[in-house]
Amino acid sequence: MEPDQTETTSKTALVVGANGVIGRNLINHLLTLPDWNVIGVSRRGGEDTRGLKYVAVDLLNEKETYEKLGNLSEVTHIFFAAYQDRPTWAELVQPNLAMLVNVVNTIEPIASNLQHISLMQGYKVYGAHLGPFKTPARETDAYHMPPEFNVDQQQFLEQRQPGSTWTWSALRPSVVCGFALGNPMNLAMVIAIYASMSKELGLPLRFPGKPGAYNSLLEMTDAGLLARATVWAATDERCANQAFNITNGDLFRWNELWPKIAAFFELETAPPLPMSLEVIMSDKETLWNCMVKKYGLENNSYKDVSSWRFGDFVFSWDYDFFADGSKARRFGFHDFIDTERMFMDIFEDFRRRKVIP
Ligand SMILES: NC(=O)c1ccc[n+]([C@@H]2O[C@H](COP(=O)([O-])OP(=O)(O)OC[C@H]3O[C@@H](n4cnc5c(N)ncnc54)[C@H](OP(=O)(O)O)[C@@H]3O)[C@@H](O)[C@H]2O)c1
Repeated sequence: MEPDQTETTSKTALVVGANGVIGRNLINHLLTLPDWNVIGVSRRGGEDTRGLKYVAVDLLNEKETYEKLGNLSEVTHIFFAAYQDRPTWAELVQPNLAMLVNVVNTIEPIASNLQHISLMQGYKVYGAHLGPFKTPARETDAYHMPPEFNVDQQQFLEQRQPGSTWTWSALRPSVVCGFALGNPMNLAMVIAIYASMSKELGLPLRFPGKPGAYNSLLEMTDAGLLARATVWAATDERCANQAFNITNGDLFRWNELWPKIAAFFELETAPPLPMSLEVIMSDKETLWNCMVKKYGLENNSYKDVSSWRFGDFVFSWDYDFFADGSKARRFGFHDFIDTERMFMDIFEDFRRRKVIP
């Protein structure tokens, strides 16, 4: 007879945004740990397995959130990594704040052993999306002119926390790389699909970004490393009510990495050519469907492997894009990952999963 999970586990994670590039990898990590039960929350839901159950809910709907999550009194840790994409920075605020507020308003009154709320943020806190921001960005840097939803979310938790049973932490990764499908922000998928299509069309791999972006200095965050940091920050009491930049620990320039990515796909490179991926890749659905058939790939829709707008965004950064990662190290998190190795491992993983040829 299988042991009862409730006898061996002491913590229950509510992973909000369970199908995201961040949430999905966080769940995978939590399931490798001995003492966690996991509840995954998103609109699409998922398949329950040992130690993991999904709840499908639209968090923008306050009433539905209460109906679907209002009995989860066992939750000890909320990991908030849900995200609603919108065309402008200002439009991001309302839905992304509303989802967090609806979750906290529902769970806090019923979960008497709620210990921690973890908030996933990013370098938008530092204005990285607006233009050349101060680097290295530090957790102590002043906020910039709103609107900015990451800051509003953190301030909501800061105002709510005093006198409660829980503490909060905030994680600030760079671009997050890992496996996920149907996600607006998925750089590894952008590169993998773009390279696979270049190969199919007999083309070299051209960097599609701004000329300056090829030479600027940046960093990435591996989704697995981020998951380990997130759980660390949520469970180490030194991290209570603190924000942390979480990065791979090395810097790179596309001008060095791009030819190595090309080599992985057995492609030549050609000089960069600025183009909008969102525009230029918009007519490639038929090509994708042919590739799925020809190479016996998993039947993922073109939409589910397309994050072209995000690719345009990342490849437009003709300024340095990095933060100081030493605070997390000072507080006790020492993990690091080689970014070149990370990309190759992720592309190999996409191949194993038959996402790309
Ligand atoms: N991706 C990156 O490179 C990156 C980098 C730095 C910071 N961040 C930040 O990290 C956070 C998470 O980003 P992400 O890239 O992991 O997002 P993502 O891949 O788009 O995932 C978002 C998750 O939220 C769920 N969701 C969206 N709307 C929902 C709703 N109305 N109700 C319930 N669930 C909903 C989605 O699942 P369903 O579709 O099934 O609902 C999905 O599981 C964001 O704040 C983002 O700004 C991301």
